Amino acid sequence: MANALKKLVPAIGVAAGGSWAAITSFNDDWDDYTPSSGNSKPEKIVILGSGWAALNALRKCAAPSKEIVVVSPRPHFLYTPLLASSSVGTITLRSATEPLRALVERAAGRATSATFVRADARDIDVEGKRVLATTDSRGMQLELSYDKLIVAVGSQPNTFGIPGVAEHGMFMKEAEDSTRLHSRLLSNLEKAAALSVEGDKYAKEIDRLLTVFVVGGGPTGVELSAELADFAHSDVAKIYGADISERIKIVLVEVMPRLLGPFDASLAEVARDHLVSKGVEVRTGTAVTHVEARDVTCQPSLPRGATPEQKKEAEANSQTEEMGCLVWAAGIGARPLVKKLAQKLGQSDMRGLKVDEDLRVLGTDGVYAIGDCALSGFPPTAQVAAQQGKHVGRAIRDGSDSKFVYHHAGSLCCLGSSNGIAQMVVPGGSGANNVWDLLGAPAVGKDGEQRSVTGLPAFALWRSLYFTKLLSTSSKMSLGGDWINAHIWGRDIQEPV
Ligand code: FAD
Ligand code: NAI
Repeated sequence: MANALKKLVPAIGVAAGGSWAAITSFNDDWDDYTPSSGNSKPEKIVILGSGWAALNALRKCAAPSKEIVVVSPRPHFLYTPLLASSSVGTITLRSATEPLRALVERAAGRATSATFVRADARDIDVEGKRVLATTDSRGMQLELSYDKLIVAVGSQPNTFGIPGVAEHGMFMKEAEDSTRLHSRLLSNLEKAAALSVEGDKYAKEIDRLLTVFVVGGGPTGVELSAELADFAHSDVAKIYGADISERIKIVLVEVMPRLLGPFDASLAEVARDHLVSKGVEVRTGTAVTHVEARDVTCQPSLPRGATPEQKKEAEANSQTEEMGCLVWAAGIGARPLVKKLAQKLGQSDMRGLKVDEDLRVLGTDGVYAIGDCALSGFPPTAQVAAQQGKHVGRAIRDGSDSKFVYHHAGSLCCLGSSNGIAQMVVPGGSGANNVWDLLGAPAVGKDGEQRSVTGLPAFALWRSLYFTKLLSTSSKMSLGGDWINAHIWGRDIQEPV
């Protein structure tokens, strides 16, 4: 097995050719930049955020003529692709986060200055060119002026106003969401194990505690469901026994007729089959309409422009079920700061900030929006955010704007241990891909311009890619150690204290 993997990973790398290079380039290191000489006043750059977009902008705009201030309530960079696996203890959060101060310090060595301000930006005054931020809810205000502003505040979970989600749902967006979920899962397992001492007396409560709903069959919901299923089958079975492990019920609910909208339908089907084979109950064409602390209500999805009769019928078929935990992974929406600025600028769409092709916010001077918070016509992914960050960082560094061009390298989705799906863009078009043919990777996508890889090779691709692109050697050591630990001794089942 180990030998087969050793051969497989480079083979896939070679086969992917440009795709591999393109994906890995979304996260390369600092530029070697030699500034032009001159004693002009440094330009003040304020970057809002500490995620994929902000970090890449910081790396590129760090140059001697710049005074950079990074503002974010989050003191770390979060490597989001690893988040789902941290929530079941496959890896530790140490591997998925990087302290921001270390990154800013690195930028400081290249710029006039670089500072991190841990604060929440609350308002942007585009005429006065200043940002108002607070350090906490008591409202101690900071005022930061800028020459150029990069808004890279990302997005937040979207509850679509569905009753009970904000109060009772858990999320999978930030590091603390993962800690909370890990803690809830382990605490429910302990309660269920304690109640089982009484035999069948508390059977109903045990079943409730062991039922997990994941809402949203996008990549987040699918990756999380696969991790949960692995955890249930391996570690829970080993530690809590088959009685508890077999009673765990994982339900994945998706409102659309199929899972994984961004992927080709054939790959989505592979993912669905894999989840079902691991015992996940996949309910497509089903909408969650109400959430309480201990139960969730679902009903058949409604078509667009449903008639009152159709609505009535769906309601009549609604079902309320008890659960011990519900994770809301049903999509993302704009943050309050973004909505506030969009409104001030008279923009009609509140889902993000409208930008021009250079990623400048329409109706402003010197303000850029990148990543999930920008309405740039590209999907809200790390790949897009990182490329936009680099583009804007370079534009600011060089003082020259240019049209942003996105290079899509492909999409990967991890389906737990030893499984995954990948849809890779093939360099040179579909005719020139003999290596992919040798690998037996079928053509997918609109004109068959992409190749699909599934199972162990996709998993190997996912792991090797995301391992290589971690930001620091210490994270790589930590992640490698986590994977080895989980493989030999099992996942971390220490309830966070
Ligand atoms: P973020 O990375 O979310 O960063 C936003 C930053 O802004 C944060 O630091 C936040 O604290 C800060 N902030 C928020 N509010 C304020 C404020 N008021 N003032 C200042 N700062 C603020 N994409 C992929 O391409 N591949 C993947 O495998 C992948 N896996 C994912 C897995 C999960 C579980 C999730 C949730 C997402 C995943 N994504 C993936 C999507 C990807 O993570 C996002 O598209 C990406 O994080 C967007 O980058 P961003 O910089 O715009 O936002
Ligand atoms: P998403 O928006 O991609 O998926 C959310 C899903 O929830 C949709 O399929 C939607 O139809 C469904 N939904 C909405 N309301 C619902 C309801 N009431 N009941 C049931 N289902 C409902 O969100 P996700 O998965 O969080 O991804 C966000 C972004 O991050 C995407 O751009 C995605 O591509 C990216 N991402 C990429 C990953 C990867 O490449 N491996 C992993 C995770 C996220």
